[in-house]
Amino acid sequence: MASLPTSVKIVEVGPRDGLQNEKHIVPAAVKIEFINRLSQTGLKTIEATSFVSPKWIPQLADAEEVFRGIEKIHSVSYPVLVPNEKGMQRALDAGAKEISIFTAASETFNHKNINASIAESIERFKPVMTLATKHNVRVRGYISTVIGCPYEGPITPEAVARVAKELAALGCYEISLGDTIGVGTPIKAQRMLAAAATEVPMQKLAVHFHDTYGQALANIHACLELGVAVVDSSTSGLGGCPYAKGATGNVATEDVLFMLTGMGIETGVDMDKLLAAGRFISEELAHQPDSKLGRIPSDSRRDARTLDKHK
Ligand code: HMG
Ligand code: MG
Repeated sequence: MASLPTSVKIVEVGPRDGLQNEKHIVPAAVKIEFINRLSQTGLKTIEATSFVSPKWIPQLADAEEVFRGIEKIHSVSYPVLVPNEKGMQRALDAGAKEISIFTAASETFNHKNINASIAESIERFKPVMTLATKHNVRVRGYISTVIGCPYEGPITPEAVARVAKELAALGCYEISLGDTIGVGTPIKAQRMLAAAATEVPMQKLAVHFHDTYGQALANIHACLELGVAVVDSSTSGLGGCPYAKGATGNVATEDVLFMLTGMGIETGVDMDKLLAAGRFISEELAHQPDSKLGRIPSDSRRDARTLDKHK
């Protein structure tokens, strides 16, 4: 049996990846309460919001208010997405200590998402990195469409490895590999991760699976077998990218936690508190017409699970 990590860091992306994709704008007070509840669960990283163009993502136009409004726990990191120098300045002004820059392995997707080629995006990140170093801000990097692109189709592992190398050279402390439209299956996920790991040490890699075809947990398990120990997920399975047609929710944090705990892998996250945070946001979204939240109802089957029963 392949050796699995003994502990895994879960990176919660629900407040950002989840709420960026809701049709209706969730009030800032609800976002703040959601993040505050997540902060009590034992999660060590909670992606809070994005300092992107409000014209492109109106759902997160309240980034300043949300970031300033959350009660920050000392032991928790609250990264925010930053697409360019302007976003970096906004993030710094709001007091961010960690940011994420994001590009893609597909040229077409990158144009649709951030209006830049891959090479242009790397150039755009250089002044962002200079500011980050100056202000002692940690930088995570994302690569989208690592297995498939909604415009270009299959993406080669080599293309992912090339971009991973560039983000590492820029100075990202961790690089998250995003299966934006959830088309990965376990062997493809392993090939993609193995290729990235030829350029960047496995300890610096994270996986980020959307669950469009119900493959996310299988993909995560396959990647754990290769030694990855950082997993992105979203409470209640919220999520999606407005610029990737067909992108549905991220893998649910509740499901990832259930699998990891059942496998004896430490995360430090409390399932009951996580379920309560998930119930809170699910109930809030249930009031919104046309909510994207569909997979996981508020009185989720997860409520019946206790870790004691399933260890
Ligand atoms: P652009 O239109 O090319 O930008 O957008 P520009 O530089 O030409 O500026 C146009 C206007 O936008 C100007 O204002 C700028 O000041 C303003 P005007 O002069 O017209 O009044 N502007 C900004 N305002 C606020 N904050 C900013 C900012 N930048 C410019 N940061 C840009 C280029 C990158 C800004 C835009 O394309 C953008 O914001 N894209 C973000 C899209 C996004 O957030 N997508 C979802 C996140 S990625 C994702 O979900 C994938 C992930 O989960 C991993 C996975 O699953 O694969 C991470
Ligand atoms: Mg995503």
